[in-house]
Amino acid sequence: MDVLVVGGGGREHAIIMKLSQSPKIGKLYCTPGNGGISRFAECFDIKATDIDGVVELAKKLSVDMVVVAPDDPLVLGMVDVLNANGIKTFGPNKAAAEIEGSKVFSKQLMKKYKIPTAEYEVFSDAKEAIEYIKRKNSYPAVIKADGLALGKGVVIAKDFDEAQSAVNSIMEDKIFGASGNRIVIEEFLTGPEVSVLSFCDGKTVVPMVSSMDHKRALDNDEGLNTGGMGTIAPNPYYTEEIAKECMEKIFLPTVAAMNSDGRPFKGCLYFGLMITPNGPKVIEYNCRFGDPETQVVLPLLKTDLLEIFEAVYEERLSEIKIEWKDESAACVVMASGGYPQKYSTGFEISGLDEKGQVDGAFVYHAGTKFSQGKFLTSGGRVLGVTSTGKSLEKALESAYKALGAIAFEGMHYRKDIGQRALKECK
Ligand code: AMP
Ligand code: GLY
Repeated sequence: MDVLVVGGGGREHAIIMKLSQSPKIGKLYCTPGNGGISRFAECFDIKATDIDGVVELAKKLSVDMVVVAPDDPLVLGMVDVLNANGIKTFGPNKAAAEIEGSKVFSKQLMKKYKIPTAEYEVFSDAKEAIEYIKRKNSYPAVIKADGLALGKGVVIAKDFDEAQSAVNSIMEDKIFGASGNRIVIEEFLTGPEVSVLSFCDGKTVVPMVSSMDHKRALDNDEGLNTGGMGTIAPNPYYTEEIAKECMEKIFLPTVAAMNSDGRPFKGCLYFGLMITPNGPKVIEYNCRFGDPETQVVLPLLKTDLLEIFEAVYEERLSEIKIEWKDESAACVVMASGGYPQKYSTGFEISGLDEKGQVDGAFVYHAGTKFSQGKFLTSGGRVLGVTSTGKSLEKALESAYKALGAIAFEGMHYRKDIGQRALKECK
């Protein structure tokens, strides 16, 4: 099978490296891809959000399947248009992708079907929202833009001033455009966070190995929020007992809810969970593989990923057995100096072989370019260095060891990925 993957980050690199191991794979293509991906798949310069461009490319290449990985093309309905053109896909259609595309929709879905989540109110008027915050007088206040906002649409405000300015910048200044026409204000929850990605064919849901992201830029969870500075899998806080509770109270009810709503979900459904003192609750849904969660989950998958993608498309997920390695994985992200704020690009990356790899790790490229035989930095998050091992300690040790061979000007990375989990879950 010839497959085209849409997207161009570490997540897409991880999907492509896994697909490249499938005995069934023919040609692998990616658009727009990146420097590292270009060593495993032929890349094109059509943007991930260019629906007509991607459909045309898929037809020109006569691919057998298109995997749509990022949130924005899914929410825009790329899968619907591909399917209408007779092209097989992996990823939810527009109606199902709304579970991530609109926080108002997902909160109302959870309320209607009694899926545990934070209490909330919806506002379409900034003044009313600010009045409500004043009346509640409870901080931190959690304020969320309704639509997609490049992962920046959530503000945890520690006092009234911060809350007011968040509401104004989202609803009045429209820093996220139309995504801020409505907001959700919700109860602040506490507890360890768990990401559970799942394969879902509209009827059956199969959770993957659990994982844990590290969103803050600096060690000890300090500094600004980022797209994710590292991940571990499995997540040590996610015990078998909690997994069972999540299956009964969250995963199965969500799939059933989407069906009852006439939006069967086919693709990767991501459950962002918090294990609160009152049990696991949904913080957010994503309609796609997480980044950088995918970078630690897929290396632990034993089953052929392409076979799973086909089973999801053909709605026969219940007929296949999905198996995982009894190991751990750790991914450490190497970022450009200054990220998540202003940073420069174009620095040469040393230590990588001609495939963009190093011994003992999978090096997933997020922001790189391949030019005249060299890898150059081209984004904020540059590389995700991932290793697997018999234990989390071993996986971390080899990821950091592999990372030590790589360098570029200004690079920074967290030195404590997985450490808190190791300490607290002994
Ligand atoms: P999201 O963009 O939805 O992933 O949210 C970003 C982060 O904000 C989450 O990973 C949580 O750490 C935090 N967060 C979101 N909602 C809540 C909440 N209700 N209570 C506490 N923290 C939250
Ligand atoms: N790592 C969180 C996300 O993919 O949204």
